[in-house]
Amino acid sequence: MTEAKVIDKVAEEIRALSQPQGVGSAQANAQPSASAPGAGRQEARTSSPPSGMAEPAEPQPRETVVSPHPYATQLREKRLAAEANGRARRDTLLYLDGVTKSFDGFKAINNLSLVIEKGEMRAIIGPNGAGKTTMMDIITGKTRPDKGEVFFNGDVDLTRHDEAAIANMGIGRKFQKPTVFESHTIEDNIRLSLSGPRSVLEALVHRKDEPERARIEEILETIRLTAKRKTLAANLSHGQKQWLEIGMLLAQDPELLLVDEPVAGMTDAETEETARLLREIATTRSVVVVEHDMGFVRELGVKVTCLHEGSVLSEGTLDKVSADPKVIEVYLGR
Ligand SMILES: Nc1ncnc2c1ncn2[C@@H]1O[C@H](COP(=O)(O)OP(=O)(O)OP(=O)(O)O)[C@@H](O)[C@H]1O
Ligand SMILES: [Mg+2]
Repeated sequence: MTEAKVIDKVAEEIRALSQPQGVGSAQANAQPSASAPGAGRQEARTSSPPSGMAEPAEPQPRETVVSPHPYATQLREKRLAAEANGRARRDTLLYLDGVTKSFDGFKAINNLSLVIEKGEMRAIIGPNGAGKTTMMDIITGKTRPDKGEVFFNGDVDLTRHDEAAIANMGIGRKFQKPTVFESHTIEDNIRLSLSGPRSVLEALVHRKDEPERARIEEILETIRLTAKRKTLAANLSHGQKQWLEIGMLLAQDPELLLVDEPVAGMTDAETEETARLLREIATTRSVVVVEHDMGFVRELGVKVTCLHEGSVLSEGTLDKVSADPKVIEVYLGR
């Protein structure tokens, strides 16, 4: 039986128990119908005894006030709140509510609630240890939360899936350290990521597939590496390796891309280019970017969430968040 049905059944039983014997249902009493006090009186008059005779005492209907049992009310309110939550959640791409994760008693994530809309790019900032990476670990199934809700695309409960399944659902994640196939060319790195279930050998031999070639071209353009397509990944700069890894994630066509500190260790020029690159990517999918580089975050020009001690400290435009005294105290003012 569903929770809703259980609640209704409990409420019904409580109503029945609080009903005095012989009196109609609370609903019937509440409606001024043929059995209502006024109507009863009318009937009595038409059949009244001849004058002089004592009129029998009119039976007074007993008033029955049935108030729901507090437990039923509580359950009902909980159900209604859950339904309202479900409606609010349905249009979101990512929905975290009341998420908590402790490591040896330390709450790395503490009652965290965060919503990312479909198509949105969001920047996440916050001091070291704020829980930014742990939040990504939870979204991608690497870490399971102790409690709280994590939903993707409205109703996919991510806490019920493992990392591989979550990646297949369309959540791509870029770690801070680039992980590319160093001994392969850039083009082949992308091809291998596109290939999905095919073996490495098949992917490399099978080069004539037109749609695949077009997709590789498109990705190379996006990650600014078309001219270097034949270069071995090992020979790329740190920044270019980061872009290549973003390209490899794009090959899987994720609906949501999580990027952890993409510009750490990049030159200023690479950092600027990365902001442009991510803005382009965000025109076709949602992106969550964790970064400490405020110049870069400003270039992104998107809504910012500042985390602190595993919770949202401040949220809004970068101007609003960076002027927030709480953010200045724990992060920007240091
Ligand atoms: N697997 C783990 N075991 C124990 N503690 C952990 C684990 N993962 C994270 N933590 C702790 O949780 C807290 C949050 O860490 P997290 O890496 O999420 O912070 P962050 O916001 O990404 O910080 P940074 O900006 O330095 O990358 C830290 O105190 C960290 O030591
Ligand atoms: Mg981190």
